[in-house]
Amino acid sequence: MSGSRRRGLATNLITAQVVVVAVGALTLALTATVVAPPLFRRHLSRAGITSAPVRRHAEEAFVSTFTLSLAAATAAALLAAGVASWILVRQVSAPVEALARTADALAAGHLSTPPPSMGSSSELGRLSDAFSRMAIRLADTDASRSRLLSDLSHELRTPLATISAYIDGMQDDVLARDAQSWDTMRAQVSRLSRLTTDVRDAAAAQEGTLSLQPRVIDPARLAHDAVDAAAPRFATRGVHLSYAGPTTGLGVVGDPERLAQVLANLLDNALRHTPSGGHVTLGVRSAATRVLLVVTDDGDGIATDQLEAVFDRFHRGDPSRATGDDHGSGLGLTIARAIVTTHAGTLVAASPGVGHGTTVTMSLPASTVQSPRKPG
Ligand SMILES: Nc1ncnc2c1ncn2[C@@H]1O[C@H](COP(=O)(O)OP(=O)(O)OP(=O)(O)O)[C@@H](O)[C@H]1O
Ligand SMILES: [Mg+2]
Repeated sequence: MSGSRRRGLATNLITAQVVVVAVGALTLALTATVVAPPLFRRHLSRAGITSAPVRRHAEEAFVSTFTLSLAAATAAALLAAGVASWILVRQVSAPVEALARTADALAAGHLSTPPPSMGSSSELGRLSDAFSRMAIRLADTDASRSRLLSDLSHELRTPLATISAYIDGMQDDVLARDAQSWDTMRAQVSRLSRLTTDVRDAAAAQEGTLSLQPRVIDPARLAHDAVDAAAPRFATRGVHLSYAGPTTGLGVVGDPERLAQVLANLLDNALRHTPSGGHVTLGVRSAATRVLLVVTDDGDGIATDQLEAVFDRFHRGDPSRATGDDHGSGLGLTIARAIVTTHAGTLVAASPGVGHGTTVTMSLPASTVQSPRKPG
């Protein structure tokens, strides 16, 4: 197929060149036979040359010189056209063929195939750049999909193994069919069902297909609502939760439900990692053209080398350090960051070190239109 492509291109180019040369040669030949001889004769007459042998001789000399020049020019033009076509075909055809080979390799699933070299042409260079960007994106998506599948199967294994062990134990009368057994199994099932929602959200968020319904919202109101929703759980665990910031006057454009999901996760993390008697604050403030929503706790803290890793999919710190009895799936911050990024914002964690608390800051672009709603 590649051979026929090269032949096609070469044939087309050479045919085009031959047509140009032929038209040129034909025009010259017509001029030489129809227009030039009468003109030449007229010039001989004006010059006073009347002798018939001299005129015949001059005319013969004129025709043979003209024919020779025409033949030599046509041959040279054809040769030049052939060489030029050959060079052009080599310049265009070889890279196109290399590109086709790379595309074939990618289509066959060899996603790490290096991009083809496209010579010095800027158009082909641009094509090659676009092609390699596409190949890198494909390889990234593929790697992330296979990582997700392996992470997911790993995550599914524990609850499924627990449920299976309980079913076997109860069937063999090794485990009591009491409330505690049912509770354990129910907890594993709800963990599985939360996992399915989280995985769907994480995938949608990372592929940029999260459905958002943005509108102008008041971040202070959003923070108040998040604090109100989390307060009972904080009270149960004896962790103080407070709000710090203005009561109104700021605005951001965003999907209130998604942003509330982010705040709920940040508060949930803070609660999990703050011992009883500890403090968690949700602060809101404006900084230049941004609005910052900051969750600060004085709990476990995060080691400096883990501050970025906590946003990785399925990343969990040492579960034994979590204060609560329910351990998350490690998707919360991945989803949260993806949601915030989709809002043109940033989400970063900071901590002075293990045992010294954590601060997670969500920064969103401030909206010029301010929310008319007052916090409740
Ligand atoms: N405020 C915090 N203090 C200390 N460690 C934290 C804090 N927030 C997050 N982490 C660490 O980051 C990890 C990842 O957090 P993330 O919210 O992504 O997952 P998770 O809370 O474990 O599970 P999920 O949110 O899916 O229920 C946590 O397991 C924990 O180790
Ligand atoms: Mg979490």
